[in-house]
Amino acid sequence: MRVGILTSGGDCQALNATMRGLVKALYQQRKDIEIIGFLKGYQGLMYEKYKKMSLSDFEDILNVGGTILGSSRCPFKKMRVIEDGFDKVEAMKKTYKKLKLDCLVVLGGNGSHKTANLLSEKGLNIVTLPKTIDNDINGTDVTFGFQSAIDIATRTLDELHTTAKSHGRIMIAEIMGNKAGWLTLYSGIAGKADVILIPEIPYNIEKISQYIKDKLKNGRKHIILAVAEGIISQEETKLSKKELKQKRSKDGYISAGYRLEAELSEKIDGEVRVVVPGHIQRGGNPCAFDRVLTSRIGVKGAELI
Ligand code: F6P
Repeated sequence: MRVGILTSGGDCQALNATMRGLVKALYQQRKDIEIIGFLKGYQGLMYEKYKKMSLSDFEDILNVGGTILGSSRCPFKKMRVIEDGFDKVEAMKKTYKKLKLDCLVVLGGNGSHKTANLLSEKGLNIVTLPKTIDNDINGTDVTFGFQSAIDIATRTLDELHTTAKSHGRIMIAEIMGNKAGWLTLYSGIAGKADVILIPEIPYNIEKISQYIKDKLKNGRKHIILAVAEGIISQEETKLSKKELKQKRSKDGYISAGYRLEAELSEKIDGEVRVVVPGHIQRGGNPCAFDRVLTSRIGVKGAELI
């Protein structure tokens, strides 16, 4: 049996742990397994960049972040676009057939799942495993990477509390999540943020400023805001996509935390600072929860194959 594996889209902490779980479980089921690891996500499948792998390649990687296969973003909306005569979907199908794969396992988020679905519609055998720190894959309770990222974002907030308190400052932590606020919400609760803003609920700057002023008046010495990178104000929801783009470009395309800093500074008398942990939230090693979750997901993947 020949199984292809690829890791696609933004990485996260437990990709290696998932592949290890999958491959170990496959070898437990039968010995005649050949693993083909595609390099840099769908690119490897398109351009025949792969390596033959064995069980030993997957040993000792349970606790190692990143991905031993590498990853890349291949936007779904461009998948069916023929560029310089190159048909990406046909190329991927061709590689699959040429290598005589019995199944392709895709570890990816939303976009990667859409492409996987396209390949499945073309007749390829596909198993997908849900990866993303954003926790926003339809039909899943929890994606791998999410818990590890929560731990990092929570630690960031914990650390901000101490320095914010020393200086009596208002500190904004901009947490990853463009369309989904799960990571901000969970770390915001765990990290005891005074204000949590997520993309799903447009914010009202007047209300937030008033809330902060009241808290300070009532004796709170510092304020922590956990805000998702994809937040949008109630005012902005009235704009068309084009108008919003123009407004943001006028602001200099600064990120959510800095936009909010500018808005708050106009309304509140106090020092405001912004911290953007960024890709640190996807970095480092998977937390214990993700190691267990991905071991189980890997076994399920092997069962499906
Ligand atoms: O989808 C995961 C994610 O980390 C989002 O939270 C974030 O908006 C995006 O990826 C960042 O993507 P990139 O690594 O391509 O900058």
